[in-house]
Amino acid sequence: MADIPLICENISVKNNTLYFAGQNTELLAKRYGTPVYLMDENRIRERCRTYLGALIEAFGGNAKALYASKACSFKRIYEIIKEEGMGVDVVSSGEIRTALKAGYPLENAYFHSNNKTDADIAYAIENGIGYFVTDNVEELTAVQNEAAKRGIRQKILLRITPGIDPHTYAAVSTGKVDSKFGSAIETGQAEEITRMALQQPNIDLAGFHCHVGSQVFDSDVYLRAADVMLTFIADIAAKTGYAARELDLGGGYGVRYVAEQPQIDIAENIRGVGKFIKEECAQLGIAVPMIAFEPGRSIVADAGMTVYTVGSVKRIPGYKNYVSVDGGMTDNVRFAMYGSPYTVLPTSGLDRPFDMKCSVVGRCCESGDIIQNNVPMPSDIKRGDLIATPTTGAYHYSMASNYNRIPRPPIVMLNNGDSYVAVRRETYDDLVSLDM
Ligand code: LLP
Repeated sequence: MADIPLICENISVKNNTLYFAGQNTELLAKRYGTPVYLMDENRIRERCRTYLGALIEAFGGNAKALYASKACSFKRIYEIIKEEGMGVDVVSSGEIRTALKAGYPLENAYFHSNNKTDADIAYAIENGIGYFVTDNVEELTAVQNEAAKRGIRQKILLRITPGIDPHTYAAVSTGKVDSKFGSAIETGQAEEITRMALQQPNIDLAGFHCHVGSQVFDSDVYLRAADVMLTFIADIAAKTGYAARELDLGGGYGVRYVAEQPQIDIAENIRGVGKFIKEECAQLGIAVPMIAFEPGRSIVADAGMTVYTVGSVKRIPGYKNYVSVDGGMTDNVRFAMYGSPYTVLPTSGLDRPFDMKCSVVGRCCESGDIIQNNVPMPSDIKRGDLIATPTTGAYHYSMASNYNRIPRPPIVMLNNGDSYVAVRRETYDDLVSLDM
């Protein structure tokens, strides 16, 4: 019998069948079809509460947790986030529209991105966005103009590049000086944009923001980021008299895709950051600003699991084995984009030996359409069997595509033994509905 890597507490095995959030994945697949994204609602809520609890413990009321909704954006999630009392980070008018449709109060939203259009800025202001996280000088001018037109004073944070390498994969490393995001301290541009923001009559500069990267396991990264940012805040205060009210340290805590990766103790980490920030502020002689964290992945990633049906099983003697599934890079592009590791498991017969190594691949006309290579699998796996990929709650649905005109899977929420469809399966008619 194989050693089943139960990489998160919400995964279990009963009668040699894979259970997720306490529910039988085989029965769920039968009921909702495959491929299907399953999402464990309680796990999402638990993760929100972990952040909120840890922030209250570390900073009292002087802290905020924002869900970075780029990780997974659909109406129901904004409802859950609202119920849990968290703010959100949005990066587009599309995410804003979805949040509004869910009745999410936009005054608790922070609008990120490195290139908001004038239309985005106007749309956000008209709908009462809480904050812009302003990336650059052109954007600052555009926000000033749109705010002036409406006679309001718009709250913003300035996105600052602290010059830190978080040692994660390049595509998600954002805090280095040459990043496309923000204004760098090292080059003097951060100070320049701060001085400019302070002169704008319709801008209320609430403070600063940084985000060093994603899938970060090294807790030291947050201490270094806090150190650089607080030193910058103290420097600006000394030079201009401006006291930043808020410091947003971004998101990025890593999650476990495979057993070899650790499970980060978020509460413990935030405690450490809290202690460090208080000491550092005392040393620098500045007031502790309101601290925000904006996690995406660590809120939803392990609340997700994708279940697929196996199609062809191809054995190329002397070379390799392929197990094809009815999804692939259209619902999970992360191996194709980043070479990300995944655990892949059959959903039944879990007492069989995993006596074959295979590549689990998708159905797209593209050799790179791979979920994972070198996956241990029972050698009698066959067409019609089901297999599951855990940890697919973050950056899967939100990065899904219709390549090869493949419809996107539904999102089925699991909640205390019940299940319900939060996003329905795309139909072929949906796919042609935009064609004139
Ligand atoms: N704040 C900002 C400004 C960000 O850019 C991001 C992620 C977050 C917060 C949330 O970071 P998280 O807690 O989720 O690590 N598609 C990639 C991840 C891209 C992350 C983009 N920014 C992936 O699938 O790994």
